[in-house]
Amino acid sequence: MDDDRLSAAIANSTAFIRALGAAGEGALTIEPEGVLAVVVPVCPERSIVNSVVYGDAASLELAYPQLEWMYDQAGVQAWTVWVPPSDRRALGFLSARGHVLDGEPQTMAMSLEGIATPPDDGSVHWSRGADHALVGAINDAAYGWEGSFERVLGALPEGVGEWYVAYLEDEPAAALITFDEDANCDVNMVATLPRAQGHGLARFLMSRALADARDRSCETTTLVATAAGRPLYERLGYRPFGAVQMWERRDRGQATICSQQTDTNFEDGPLGQLHPLVEHDLALQRAVHRAFGHDLQELLPLV
Ligand SMILES: CC(C)(COP(=O)(O)OP(=O)(O)OC[C@H]1O[C@@H](n2cnc3c(N)ncnc32)[C@H](O)[C@@H]1OP(=O)(O)O)[C@@H](O)C(=O)NCCC(=O)NCCS
Repeated sequence: MDDDRLSAAIANSTAFIRALGAAGEGALTIEPEGVLAVVVPVCPERSIVNSVVYGDAASLELAYPQLEWMYDQAGVQAWTVWVPPSDRRALGFLSARGHVLDGEPQTMAMSLEGIATPPDDGSVHWSRGADHALVGAINDAAYGWEGSFERVLGALPEGVGEWYVAYLEDEPAAALITFDEDANCDVNMVATLPRAQGHGLARFLMSRALADARDRSCETTTLVATAAGRPLYERLGYRPFGAVQMWERRDRGQATICSQQTDTNFEDGPLGQLHPLVEHDLALQRAVHRAFGHDLQELLPLV
C-alpha cells in the first residue's frame, strides 16, 4: 500500500472527534468552512477533548472568532488546535492569541493487509464491548488524572466505536477504543494501569482490535502516538507519518485558580505585570515546556 493512501487515512481520521460531540450535556461538533471543532462542557479542564482540526490556515483564521466565542460560552477553560509543525502561518496566528505548545505526538499508520490474529488461548483475559467509564478510568490512572476521561467517555452513548479491556489477575488493567471511518480503523485511548505495564496487555489488545478491524473489512489503521506508546506501535508494524503539534489555549480563569491555591495574586502582583510580556514569547514558552513539561502560564503562578 502506498504512503499517499496512509497519509490520506490520517488526514481524514476525524471519527473520535466527531464521537466526542455526543459526550454529555452541551457537547457538540461544529464545522465552519474547512474546520472541525468539538466542545465538551462536561470536561472543561482538558484541551485534549476540546479539540480543533482544520484544512488550511486561512479557514482557521476565519473560524477563530466563532471558536473562541463557542468555547467561552460553554465554560471550557482549555482547548487545543492540532497543527502540522510546517504550518508557520497557523503557528504564528495561534501564538499571537495566547495558544502555547502543549504536546507534539506522532501520527502513525499501517496497512491491515496480512496482519495476524492473536491466539485466543486464554492466556489474556479480555473483553469487547467494555464499559465506557471503565475505559476512561484506566486512562485517567495511566495519565495520572482525576476522573476527566471517566467523565467524558462514560458520557458517550452505546453503539459508537469498539471498546476493549484486558484484565490482570481479574482486575481491569488495560483498555483501548477503535473507530471505523472509510475502511480505516483509528485507534484511541490506549492505556495500561501503571502497575500492570510490561505484561503485554496493550500489545495483546492492539493485535486483537486490529484483527477485528480487518474482519470488518477495514484496510488501514491510524493513531496518534505519545512517546510512551510509540515503541509499542512500531513493534506492531505502524510507521511514523510526521509529528502534529497541540497548541493549547488555557484561559485566565484557570491561572487565577492556581494562584488561589498558592496564595499568589497572579493578576495584581509583579507576576501579573510579567505575564503580558512573556505571553507572546514563543521561544520562551517552548523552552519552558521542553524543560519542565508544563506551560509557562501554569508555572508562573507557582513561582
Ligand atoms: C504505552 C502503554 C499503553 C503500553 O502498555 P503496556 O501494557 O505496558 O505495553 P505492553 O506490555 O503490551 O508492551 C508492548 C511492547 O511495547 C514495548 N514497550 C511498551 N512500553 C515501552 C516503552 N515505554 N519503551 C520501550 N518499549 C516499550 C514492550 O517491551 C513490548 O514489546 P514486546 O512485546 O516486543 O516485548 C502504557 O505504557 C501506558 O499506558 N502509558 C501511558 C499512556 C500512554 O501514553 N498511552 C499511549 C497513548 S498513544
